[in-house]
Amino acid sequence: MQGGAVPPFDGIGLQRGAVPPFDEVLPSAAYRRLALATLAATFALIIVGGIVRVSDSGLGCGPAGSGLNGWPFCNGDVVPGLDLNSVIEYSHRTLGGIVGLMMISLAVLALRRYRSHTRLVRATAAATGLVIAQGLLGAATVEQDLDERLVASHLGLAMALLAVVLYIVRATASDRPPASPQTGSRFRPLALISSGLVFCTIVAGGYMAGTQNYGRSDYQLGDGAHHACGKEFPSCNGDFLPFGQARLVDIHLTHRVFMYLATISVVALIVMTLRRRPSTEMVRAAWIAAGLLVCQLLVGALNVWLDEYEALIVLHLALGTLLWATVVSVALALYPARAPATSRSGSPSGEAVAA
Ligand code: HEM
Repeated sequence: MQGGAVPPFDGIGLQRGAVPPFDEVLPSAAYRRLALATLAATFALIIVGGIVRVSDSGLGCGPAGSGLNGWPFCNGDVVPGLDLNSVIEYSHRTLGGIVGLMMISLAVLALRRYRSHTRLVRATAAATGLVIAQGLLGAATVEQDLDERLVASHLGLAMALLAVVLYIVRATASDRPPASPQTGSRFRPLALISSGLVFCTIVAGGYMAGTQNYGRSDYQLGDGAHHACGKEFPSCNGDFLPFGQARLVDIHLTHRVFMYLATISVVALIVMTLRRRPSTEMVRAAWIAAGLLVCQLLVGALNVWLDEYEALIVLHLALGTLLWATVVSVALALYPARAPATSRSGSPSGEAVAA
């Protein structure tokens, strides 16, 4: 957009709830608050999920093969007794239920009040579908004795859900400055590649975490890929990337390879953002991503150099989730959206603006 002649299509300066001269209504402040609360609750749900795992509570509502007694019931009851593992597992489910209700509310309200805001209607419907799928995947994970493939898929789906909620929050913003059209050609692919690589690093980390067998009846201290490289990082058993030594070493190294690729890509994205400065919002996000990346690499290394500390593992999950959210936000800020059919002054415009 040049010279301020055409306002961004979702209406900087428009009153909330007002119908702009194009076909998307700006959602009300209350709707935006609900979207922000859903974002915070989804983040909390992911962290509580991590606490469930490291506190050995994954099977707190019943062992593998419990059928409906283990999910949706908890040890056959609607509300569990005061066993700590059951309470932790049940808190995760309760929060999941609350997030599900928040998603459904966003979807129903979008359909009833903002039907013409098709991006919002589609995104809230997708988020509702994802949260239901996530609940069923959680049930399958319990039923299948916390199989690492399901643990990793559960984490991956959680990240996809968080990205969709970020998109919803963005679609409700009125004060969002558009990215400069001079962002250049390689910006968008780099942001997408960075998001993809951070996502793969997270899923590979979830797979490694799933091999730790926390919460399983056959758990033994020292199980899993966490210490498959000993306490060595960046080396691994005396070498750099000694693939082929053992299955658990390969699992550990896969996380490292994705981490190296993600780090290179995110650093390139940060440098490009700080050089081109497409908007103050994106420059701020780039600095946040830089801080999160440094902290995450350090905490990841501490996870290997020290013994298994539950708090460090949950911190690693929290920082990884925040890094994902930040990189996705940068990518979303570059995502092109349809321009208004007409400007507020009524002049036609075919210009694309950043969503
Ligand atoms: C871009 C940087 C990184 C990201 C986004 C990332 C993300 C993750 C995630 C999401 C998990 C799963 C946590 C859970 O489910 O509780 C994980 C696990 C793990 N990561 Fe990373 N990680 C990164 C860097 C590193 C580094 C540099 C190391 C050092 C080798 C490392 C070592 C580990 C280990 C050992 C685990 C398994 C923890 C466990 O026992 O559950 N990570 N990572």
